[in-house]
Amino acid sequence: MQSILGLAGFTALVAFGHALAAEPELDAFTGLKKTGDWELVRNNCLACHSARLITQQSGSKSHWLGLIRWMQEKQNLWQFEPETEQKIVSYLAQNYPPQEDRRRAPIAANLMPPNPYAPGSLDDK
Ligand code: HEC
Repeated sequence: MQSILGLAGFTALVAFGHALAAEPELDAFTGLKKTGDWELVRNNCLACHSARLITQQSGSKSHWLGLIRWMQEKQNLWQFEPETEQKIVSYLAQNYPPQEDRRRAPIAANLMPPNPYAPGSLDDK
């Protein structure tokens, strides 16, 4: 009996892990992840540029909101209803979140190539 329960538990765990790992289907046309409010992003974010600009970005809600504000200020992006904007930002932060694994520690100065702009290095020698 115990081993049957154990097996059931193990199977449930595997199924759960699989569900966590499963990535949403990609929209064939835009490449956006087809989940949640993805259609709001498709309808509002692709008039001026390709979805690649979005899918290659990653960031927190405030990062995404900052990009939207920048586009509104500089790139003629229109204003959104607050509710729409919130849904768009949530979708973006959930599906294109900050990527810790893309960050790395800076390279130690002694491992870097010589800096051509260092003081004195542009002088004729
Ligand atoms: C009115 C036109 C317009 C709309 C609509 C628009 N954008 Fe942009 N967006 C721009 C322009 C212009 C750029 C700069 C393009 C470039 O650098 O080639 C840009 C750049 C970007 C970038 C790249 C920023 C970077 O760091 O290089 C991202 C990400 C982005 N937009 C996301 C979005 C999202 C998300 C939406 C929907 C909420 C959206 N855009 C809607 C005009 C727009």
